[in-house]
Amino acid sequence: AAAPMLTKLQQDCATPLPVLRNVAASMSDDIRAGLAVDGGSDLKMILSYVDSLPTGDEKGLFYALDLGGTNFRVLRVELGGKDKRVIAIESDQVSIPQELMSATSEELFDFIASALANFAHKDGNFPGKKGEIGFTFSFPVKQTSIDSGILIKWTKGFAVSGTAGKDVVACLNEAMDRKGIDMRVSALVNDTVATLAGARYWDDDVMVSVILGTGTNACYVERMDCIPKLRGEFSPSGKTIVNLEWGAFSKGLPLTVFDRDMDAASINPGEQIFEKTISGMYLGEIARRALLHMAEEGSLFGKSMPEKLSMPFVLGTPDLSTMQQDGTEDLHTVGSVLYNVAGVESNLSSRKIVLEVCDTVVKRAARLAGAGIVGILQKIEKDTKDAIFGKRTVVAMDGGLYERYPQYRRYLKEAVAELLGPETSQNIVIEHSKDGSGIGAALLAATNSKCGQNL
Ligand code: BG6
Ligand code: GLC
Repeated sequence: AAAPMLTKLQQDCATPLPVLRNVAASMSDDIRAGLAVDGGSDLKMILSYVDSLPTGDEKGLFYALDLGGTNFRVLRVELGGKDKRVIAIESDQVSIPQELMSATSEELFDFIASALANFAHKDGNFPGKKGEIGFTFSFPVKQTSIDSGILIKWTKGFAVSGTAGKDVVACLNEAMDRKGIDMRVSALVNDTVATLAGARYWDDDVMVSVILGTGTNACYVERMDCIPKLRGEFSPSGKTIVNLEWGAFSKGLPLTVFDRDMDAASINPGEQIFEKTISGMYLGEIARRALLHMAEEGSLFGKSMPEKLSMPFVLGTPDLSTMQQDGTEDLHTVGSVLYNVAGVESNLSSRKIVLEVCDTVVKRAARLAGAGIVGILQKIEKDTKDAIFGKRTVVAMDGGLYERYPQYRRYLKEAVAELLGPETSQNIVIEHSKDGSGIGAALLAATNSKCGQNL
């Protein structure tokens, strides 16, 4: 009885070309509307104040803080100037304790400042010269300058009290004061922006960057005269990076009852719908809800009801990926993941259905992400005189989901190729930019350095 339920899920999640075309076109429209006025669409189209990208001449010692993925990271990056490029990177990473995600603002920023202090101590650079920091803060921030910005709201399960509406650099500075750390933030950037800057350091053709991890987002290089809401401000380059905050996109998405129920039960119902459909925090949960329904109503796992399967978020997206890599004939890995993670006893036929459920949820996600990318590219192509489709254009990708889910990568690329056609898609390079964001943040700290050369 589970088979018809699977068919229904597959129908509800289907992303044939017309659906993808519509999503791409709506993404382009929402980009334009968000550039026209603040609040013009679901997309905030946040101005990054990054209007010159790294040249390769950056020199000096910089720190980078990276908050917003699964792990919090501190990095020290030594930039060698022309031709020497990055000389050394060292980093520390800690996973964010669950309780900190719903702590107070002071507690969260004290944790960050302590991690920075420990790292700098270990590094022998503390107390030392005034350090400069590139702060990657991966949440929607209304930037007020390159080194300040107000948190609009938390996303990705963070519910820290007292930060929304505040300048996050001021929050960090206060925490550093409390810990006696003499460092300052030279650049506050979103992870997409840091990734774009980091990727651009190595490759001039990078125009777009996309994060697919716990959450998801994209940014791209826009012409200033295409941003009506700027009202005539301009930069010497005539260009600037704009952060879409595309997690909030919502148009034309094929959603199921499981998506709606998950959204209703979330801490931010009605918000971040694209993120909830395509990013790592949620794919496992969507699959779990579908499987639970099949177990309860369709006896997917026989008569016994696996209790653990009714626990929200017990199945993670990494579990889906592990199961989908199973190459054994009896789907042994699928069986042990189901048993270990969800307490489920399964046979070959139920394992096959489980795999189909994972594939359905992941395929929809990846194809929609691909359509989002095409929406950005088509917007640039249409509004830019020196068009991008006739030449090499790079989309820099990062985030755990993209990095660790081969099927996701494949489906995403297939969707982009389907949408753009064989000729155009040949010029679009979708490339993993591993940890561009750490280096990117350090580079932007260098570009915006207050202290001049920092070595
Ligand atoms: C990392 C980037 O690789 O991916 C971060 O350096 C980004 O800046 C992160 O936030 C997303 O990670 P996760 O843990 O959400 O997959
Ligand atoms: C969430 C955040 C966004 C970030 C993305 C990827 O959507 O709101 O700022 O870029 O996750 O980490």
